[in-house]
Amino acid sequence: MRTDRNGNIWAWWGEPGTDAVVTGSHLDSVPGGGAFDGPLGVVSALAAVDALRAQDFTPIRPLAIVVFAEEEGGRFGVPCLGSRLMSGAIDPDVARRLTDPAGITFAEAAAEAGLDPARVGRDDEALAAVHTFVELHVEQGRGLIDLGAPVGVASSILAHGRWRFGFAGEGNHAGATLLGDRRDPMVPAAEMVLAARIAASEVDDGRATVGRIVPNPGGTNVIASTVDVWLDARAGDDASTREIVERVRAMAADAAERENCVLTVVEESYGDTVVFDSELRDQVSRALGGVPALPTGAGHDAGILAAHLSTAMLFVRNPTGISHAPEEFAEADDCQAGVTALATVLERLTG
Ligand code: GLV
Ligand code: MN
Ligand code: MN
Ligand code: MN
Repeated sequence: MRTDRNGNIWAWWGEPGTDAVVTGSHLDSVPGGGAFDGPLGVVSALAAVDALRAQDFTPIRPLAIVVFAEEEGGRFGVPCLGSRLMSGAIDPDVARRLTDPAGITFAEAAAEAGLDPARVGRDDEALAAVHTFVELHVEQGRGLIDLGAPVGVASSILAHGRWRFGFAGEGNHAGATLLGDRRDPMVPAAEMVLAARIAASEVDDGRATVGRIVPNPGGTNVIASTVDVWLDARAGDDASTREIVERVRAMAADAAERENCVLTVVEESYGDTVVFDSELRDQVSRALGGVPALPTGAGHDAGILAAHLSTAMLFVRNPTGISHAPEEFAEADDCQAGVTALATVLERLTG
C-alpha cells in the first residue's frame, strides 16, 4: 500500500505499468452523512479482490484499489480534491491556499499528514499507470428502486459547482439599532436562499441548494457584519447550470443593494456534465447480464477522471432513496450483488 503525492491511497495486485484496471472510491463523508457514500465502494473493492483470489484468478493486467482524498470537499470546500489534484483539474497553488473552517490551509494539513505540500498537483505517473477506472457507489436517488434492480451502471453526471456568496454589512446591536439604520447582511442572504429555489425551478432539471450559511460573528443579539452563503447548483448542461447561478447572483445583488450591503461571489469549484464512455458502459452492462444504465445528480471522482481515462460506475440500490444523511442505506443482499458485479467486471477487464 502506498500514499501518492496528493494523499490518495493505492494498493496494487501486480506491478504498476501503463494498463492497470483500478477500482475504489472514498472514505470521507459530509457533515451528518450516511455510512455508504464512499465506504461501500472501498469495501466492495476489497471484497471483490478477495472473491477473485478465492477462485484462484490471476489478473493479466495489474489491478489496484484506490481511496481518493477529500471527495466531498467537507473540509476544504472543493469536492474530489484528491482526484482533481492528481489529474490537474485544480491549480496546486489554489489548492495549497484552501482553508478549513479552523483557518488551517490545505498546505498545512497536507504537511501534517506527511505529504510534501510543494509536490501536490498533477501526477502524470499515477495517471499513466491507469487504463480503466471503475467506481462502485451506493445510489443516491430512487433510480434503481423504480427500475426494480439491485445494480445499475452510470450513464452521466449533472454539471455542478459551488459558489460562495459573501454579503458584507455592518455589525451592530440587535436592540439599539433602528430598522431603518441597519445594514444587515442576513436579510439579502435570506432572500438569496429563496432566489436559489426560484432560479432552479425555472431551469430544465435544475437543482440549487443552500446547505451552509455562516454569519460572522454569529450572536443572537448581534446584527452580523458578514454572512457567507454557499450555493450548490446543478443542471443537465453547462449553460443551464450557469443560468441558475446568474439568476441567483442578480437577485442576490438586488437584495444586497436594498439593504446597503456589498456582495462578492466566488466560484469555488465547477465540473461540466460527464457522459461516461458508452462503449465501456455497454461492455459492463452486458457482462452483468444487461443491468440498466442511469444518470446521477451526484459528483464522483470517476467523473473527474472521465476526462482522462476510460471510466465506469456501478450503482447499488438504496432502498431509502436518501443520501448525504443517516438514512442512506443498502441491503446486505444488494451489497453482495454489487461485490459480485464488481468482481465480474474486474475479471473481464483484467483477464
Ligand atoms: C458529492 O457527493 C456531491 O455530489 O456533492
Ligand atoms: Mn457524496
Ligand atoms: Mn461518494
Ligand atoms: Mn460524491
